Order: sequence, then structure tokens, then C-alpha cells
Amino acid sequence: MRIISKVLELKEYLKEQNENIGFVPTMGALHDGHISLIKKARAECKFVVVSIFVNPTQFLEGEDFDKYPSKDEADKKICQFAGVDVLFLPQVDEIYSDDEVRVVAPNVRGFVLEGATRPGHFDGVLSVVNKLFNIVNPRYAYFGKKDAQQLNLISLMVKQLFMDVEIIAVDTVRDSDGLAKSSRNIYLTPEQRVEALKISRSLSEASKMVGKRLLKSSEIKAHMKEILKPLEIGYVEVLNREFELISEVELGNSVILVEALVGETRLLDNVWL
Ligand code: PAJ
Repeated sequence: MRIISKVLELKEYLKEQNENIGFVPTMGALHDGHISLIKKARAECKFVVVSIFVNPTQFLEGEDFDKYPSKDEADKKICQFAGVDVLFLPQVDEIYSDDEVRVVAPNVRGFVLEGATRPGHFDGVLSVVNKLFNIVNPRYAYFGKKDAQQLNLISLMVKQLFMDVEIIAVDTVRDSDGLAKSSRNIYLTPEQRVEALKISRSLSEASKMVGKRLLKSSEIKAHMKEILKPLEIGYVEVLNREFELISEVELGNSVILVEALVGETRLLDNVWL
């Protein structure tokens, strides 16, 4: 595995490869969720690039940018073990300068849900993913369904900016008790971790309702909110795959999303139906 931190060096190195590149962008502190993206890329592509870059522009004032978990040595070993060809590990000044051209998230889909409580967050995500795509020039890029809105907006950017990359969506990886893997889970105390299980449970209960053909969004949301008590809820919403609110679940075209605060930690989860 080559570890490269400079953009030009990476571009030169990738120019020599004639294979289709599979790309997995991450912010590090790699866990089984990231690893499943890397494994899928490894299985589907001859050449795999992983990036680890804690992107400052997607963190708002007061968010956890400064204390975002970092596990460089463990991450390198994980990538090596997973058969990654190149690990790209840039510093901030390699990616950003003082005066920047930015990609701006769309007015509607970029400012609901996560975008409503974290205005500007998706501008930062899209800006960095755009840069990373331009640097790596991948044929396929792998993203987790866990960050459903991020996945939706990146797919939209690729389509609207006519980018030559195919976005591959990967299922959410969970702990055995149902909690979705997240780099932020390490912030949870043991008691909070138990409370956090209400999030995945509310979603599995929602799936059961849908299984019984109870499809009304209002009823599903009310039931989920009962289960989530006393957690502070950011949102519970039922959307179609175009990310529009819907009043009834459309089988095969819906996603139910939850954001809840457990202590200080904001956790996201969703189920695709
Ligand atoms: P990060 O949170 O490190 O996540 C990197 C990728 O791993 C994302 O596509 C995310 O959806 C996926 N992922 C995280 N937890 C997962 C889980 N439990 N199961 C499956 N996939 C999971 O998302 C980001 O970084 C950044 O916003 C980034 C896209 C790298 C831009 O900075």
C-alpha cells in the first residue's frame, strides 16, 4: 500500500494506473462501516484508493472538529489489511487555500433535516467530495446509506455537474445489538450507549409497521417518537428516495430517517424500505 499526502504526487501516481479506480472517502477513525465500503470497493475494482481527511469546512462553529477522533496508525493497518492500493492522507493546507471556490448545496434538499440544523454542513461535504473526485478521478465511489442525505446530495451533484463517477450505496453496518456503527459512538458513556439503542429500535418497529401495511407517515412517526422518549429528537421523517416528504410509505422507494441527541452526541440512523 502506498501512503501519499500530496495532491500532485497522487495524481502522477494514479496516471500510471490504467485500471478503473474505486474510491472510498472517509474522515478516519475507521470502523466496520468504513471497512465494508472498502471491502466492496476491493471486490469490485482493480485499484482502490481510500482517503482520510477530517474536512474542516463541513464542521460548524462549536462542533467537534478539534476533537474528532483520530486513529492514524490503526487506520493505516486497517487499510493495509483490507488490501487498499493507495491511502491518501492530506493536510488541510494541501486541500484548501484562503479564498475558495465552493460548491453550494441545493436550496431545498440541502437545507432540510441535517441541513436545517447544520446550515453550511453540506456545502462543506460537497466541496470536499468534489475536490477529492477531481484529485482521484474514480470510476466508482462508495458511500454509506447511513448518511442518507449526504448520499442523496452527492448523487445529485454527480448528476447535475455531469461528473464521470458512479456512486455506489452501501448498507449500514451495525453492532450486534443494532446500534449503527459511527465514529462518534466512542463519545457515548455505557449508559448513553444503552439509551442510543432506542434509535435503531424505533426504526425496526417502523419497519414492522410497514410489514403490516401500516403505511401512514404520521402514525409511524408518532410510534417512533414514543419509543425514542426521553431522547431529544432532531427529526423523524419519512421521505421518498428523491428526498421529498411523503404522507405514506411507498414500498421500494422510501427512507425513514432519525436524528437524536444522546447526551451531547448527535446520532443518525435510517431504514430504507
Ligand atoms: P465518515 O463519517 O468518515 O464516513 C465515511 C463513509 O463511511 C461515508 O460514506 C459514510 O456514510 C460511511 N459510513 C459511516 N458509518 C457507516 C456504517 N455504519 N455503515 C456503512 N457505512 C458507513 O461521511 C464522511 O466521512 C464525510 O462526510 C466525507 C464523505 C468523507 C466527506 O468529508
